[in-house]
Amino acid sequence: MFFTAESFAASYILQRVYFSCFRRARKKGPLRFLHFNSCGGYNNQQAALSPNLISCSRYGGYFCALQLPAMLQLQNGQYEIGGVPVQQLCEKYDTPLYVYNTATMEAQYNKLKNAFSGANTKIKFACKALNNINVLKFFRTIGAGLDTVSIQEVWTGLRAGFKPEDIIYTPNCVSMEEIELAVKEGVQINIDNISILEQFGHKYGSSIPVCVRINPHVMAGGNINISTGHIDSKFGISIYQMRHVERIIKAEKIRVNGLHMHTGSDILDVDVFLRAADILFEVTEHFPDLEFIDFGSGFKVPYKPDDYYTDIDEVGAKLTESFNNFCKKYGRDLALYFEPGKFLVSQSGTFLVKVNVIKQTTATVFVGVDSGMNHLIRPMFYNSYHHITNVSNPTGTQRIYTIVGYICETDTFGWDRKLSEVGEGDILAFHNAGAYGFSMASNYNSRFRPAEVLVHKGKDYLIRKRETMEDLLRNQVEVEL
Ligand SMILES: Cc1ncc(COP(=O)(O)O)c(C=O)c1O
Repeated sequence: MFFTAESFAASYILQRVYFSCFRRARKKGPLRFLHFNSCGGYNNQQAALSPNLISCSRYGGYFCALQLPAMLQLQNGQYEIGGVPVQQLCEKYDTPLYVYNTATMEAQYNKLKNAFSGANTKIKFACKALNNINVLKFFRTIGAGLDTVSIQEVWTGLRAGFKPEDIIYTPNCVSMEEIELAVKEGVQINIDNISILEQFGHKYGSSIPVCVRINPHVMAGGNINISTGHIDSKFGISIYQMRHVERIIKAEKIRVNGLHMHTGSDILDVDVFLRAADILFEVTEHFPDLEFIDFGSGFKVPYKPDDYYTDIDEVGAKLTESFNNFCKKYGRDLALYFEPGKFLVSQSGTFLVKVNVIKQTTATVFVGVDSGMNHLIRPMFYNSYHHITNVSNPTGTQRIYTIVGYICETDTFGWDRKLSEVGEGDILAFHNAGAYGFSMASNYNSRFRPAEVLVHKGKDYLIRKRETMEDLLRNQVEVEL
């Protein structure tokens, strides 16, 4: 299903219409994509800011990439990642293998920083996207803070050297006990439901400041599973419950120092960000002690050739302006937080697999690889597209293949993909594997999770060993029955 609505007028009435479209679409089948489109003009200057793109066209307030950013570089007939030949990485560490490039992470971080340089902006890396401690340390060294959603992520962040005040903890449906553990660690607490807010106030009063996660009732995001700010979402406290929140805050003397929202991932339209921001600004009248506003994330990066992506410079310019105007009205300069995952790491990561078998059936040619949904679940879970390159045969004839995993379910990575001719033993590279790749990996079918390698300044570092039988059985308790 694909909907567009020109000139998204940001009114509640229209929103309700969109909601009912969304529900109807959901009833009819899996929802592929729903976006509300606004208009925008072509902007050459912006295209020049994206060196990895051959050219960009402007459509509906966001950009269309005509070529994928170069996660792999073809040098003298062989593919490299950050200067290290892919073949060499596979020989050294074996496959399946996740490889991340710090140069891409840093470039994305700087892009975001620059886009929002007109405000007191803090970027907190959403480590759920990629949770290797070395990646966390890298983001700390370039100046990022950390966005966490579990006490375990908080502990990892502290181990990685983040100061507690640079960590925000935004759990969802966790127990008060877990929140108390986070309070002990001194991190910024972000609460997303009234029950916990009440318990929190009862226990801590004004002694521990707290951020409140708002649900602005904005439908945004690439698919229903990653849309978090709409009326049917479990996330946040509804904007219509602010009177209730105010009562609790007054009664328990709670000090609310921040407001937060995250409307979803893969948001294209600049107007959606602005509309949601306006809603949050309106709500601030209930909170006189604010020190920051956290706009979450949702910036979309390109996954496929000709894909759209958030025009970060346009969002930066417009949101900074409206944020600064808001601060003037509010009477204080607040900090502006973002917590991107995908934007910072998606394009930094490549997942390398080996072709086990080519299987020709009556209908298709399957390429079976030494991995599956246990290692990269996004294609099966979200119907996500990951571009695939046959790195072993850069100049071969293009042929059509369906790439599948070795799991005992239908775990198709990509249907009818054009790849240069594939042979058994070839190495395939999945692009955009930095975000929600390894961090969503499992041991399903009792498979080992892959190794992870970080490429930094032309050198490769093993940052996670491939698992072994000992790892698989470590916590199993063998009993005599
Ligand atoms: C609260 C919150 N913040 C940040 C993120 C990161 O989103 P993205 O990876 O799209 O940048 C998520 C993603 O689920 C989230 O739930």
